[in-house]
Parts: sequence; C-alpha cells; structure tokens
Amino acid sequence: MASFRSVLITGASSGIGRALAEACSGPGVVLHLGGRDATRLEQTAAACRARGAEVQARAVEVTDTAAMAEWFRAAGQLDLVVANAGISGGTGAGAEESAAQARAIFAVNLDGMLNTVLPAMEAMAAQPPDADRVRGRIAVVASIAAFLPAPGAPAYSASKAAADYWTVATAAGARRRGIRLTSVCPGFIRTPMTANNPYPMPGLMSAERAARITLRGIAAGRRRVVFPWWVGLLARCVGLLPPRVLSALMSISQGKPVLG
Ligand SMILES: NC(=O)c1ccc[n+]([C@@H]2O[C@H](COP(=O)([O-])OP(=O)(O)OC[C@H]3O[C@@H](n4cnc5c(N)ncnc54)[C@H](OP(=O)(O)O)[C@@H]3O)[C@@H](O)[C@H]2O)c1
Repeated sequence: MASFRSVLITGASSGIGRALAEACSGPGVVLHLGGRDATRLEQTAAACRARGAEVQARAVEVTDTAAMAEWFRAAGQLDLVVANAGISGGTGAGAEESAAQARAIFAVNLDGMLNTVLPAMEAMAAQPPDADRVRGRIAVVASIAAFLPAPGAPAYSASKAAADYWTVATAAGARRRGIRLTSVCPGFIRTPMTANNPYPMPGLMSAERAARITLRGIAAGRRRVVFPWWVGLLARCVGLLPPRVLSALMSISQGKPVLG
C-alpha cells in the first residue's frame, strides 16, 4: 500500500472517508480529518490513532468557503487531499427530488468539492516537489453514477458527472505544475449512504476494499479510477441509450438508478 505522510480527508466521519483514513494510518503519518458529526469523527480519529497516526480532527462544513480555507491554512504541507464528502437524495423510491434536495446535493457535491480542491491546489503549488517531481496529490470522490443521467437521482448523477469531468479536465494542466489529480468513480459501496437501498446493488463492495483500490490508483497517478470496472462499463453503455429507453429501463427498478 502506498504511504502518504500528510493527508487531509473530508467526510472522514463515515463510510468511504473513514475507511480511507484508516487505510492511510500508521506511525509517522499526520491526518487532518473533517466531517460534521463530531462524535463519529472522533471515532474515526481514535481508530487512526490506534494504528499509530497523529490525528487533527475538525468539525467543518464543506460548503463554508471561509472555514475550509482556514482549515487548509492550519494544516500546512499536504501530500494527499481527498475531497470525499458527499450526499445523495436518499432512498425514497419513485419520489420526486425536491428543490431543496437538489440545491443541497449540488452545494455539497460541487461547491464542497471545489472548496476542498481549489485551496489544496493553491497550497500544493507552493510546496517543493518530491523525487518524482510531484508536489502533491488530490483525489475527488465522484461516482459511477456520473456515467448515466439516472432519473431516480437527477442531482446526484449530474453533480457527480460535473465533479468527474471537472477533475479529469483540470488534471492535465495541474500535472504540468506537479499536482496529480484523480477522479475516483466507485460503484456501490457498503456505507450508510447505501444501507437502506431497496434495490439490487450489482458489484456491492466493502468500504475497506474501495479505500485500497482508491489509494492504489492515486499512488499510480491515474486520472480516473473506476471500480468495479464491469459496473463502470455497464453504466457507460446504459448511459448511451436514448433518454426514453433509459427512463423505461430505470422505471423497472422503481425509478432508482440500476447502477452507481
Ligand atoms: N456508498 C456508495 O455506494 C458510493 C458510491 C459512489 C460514490 N460515493 C461517494 O463517496 C463519498 C462518501 O460517501 P459514503 O458512501 O461514504 O457516504 P456516508 O457514509 O454517508 O459519508 C458521507 C460523509 O460526507 C460527510 N458530509 C456530508 N455532507 C457534508 C457537509 N456538508 N460538510 C462536511 N461533511 C459532509 C459526512 O459527514 P457527517 O456524517 O459527519 O455529516 C460523512 O462523513 C460521497 O461523495 C459519495 O457520493 C459513494
């Protein structure tokens, strides 16, 4: 497993973020962990400290631009930043997404992501390069949902598509400045976000396995990591269907996304 010495992760109080934090933990590692729920965040911090890491936990709202900028100023040098915090619309099968839900999803999944990645890029640009001429690595947790406009999750799939496109498009220029950007597109992962999904979840995987695959992809400098690969391929193919056919297919599973 690749080792990063100084890591900042948003959404570390639960699910994939917690698994990433634990997987990065070890003696000599400094972790900056963010989340909103202070109790669950402290549970992650304790598990990481038990593995030998030094942990700075911060209850921070990713949509608060000023608070996020202040967090980065306090953190100092960072090898790896993961913009992981995200929300979905829940599992109300067949229910229309409310206006408030749509706005909240875009705010957290896009503004929150930019509030993480932009200050990270600015800080890393001033850091010295390592032996591989890399100043720092940044990963954005998007989703396989980015690959198809899911009628059961419009804001979620659209926000993840934007996050994925923005990350991959920005990666080329960032690379020239010594910053490696990776868009992470998981399929279904066993976390509180998917715990109440009433439909089948092909390729469902543990958060621990997802964290290992994610960190390997980041260390390899990949611009996009998709897993399981076959769920990603299936989602790409379904996403190419005409919208009417796509909606009909999705309604078979009560308007919820078959994939991602
Ligand atoms: N699970 C899946 O199948 C799956 C698949 C593809 C992509 N993803 C993506 O993976 C990421 C993590 O999801 P997960 O499954 O691990 O979900 P989760 O268990 O619900 O965890 C979400 C994390 O994001 C944090 N968060 C949410 N809104 C926030 C906000 N406004 N400010 C700060 N932190 C906030 C939560 O913090 P608090 O709980 O403390 O509020 C929590 O730590 C998300 O971006 C999600 O879209 C998940």
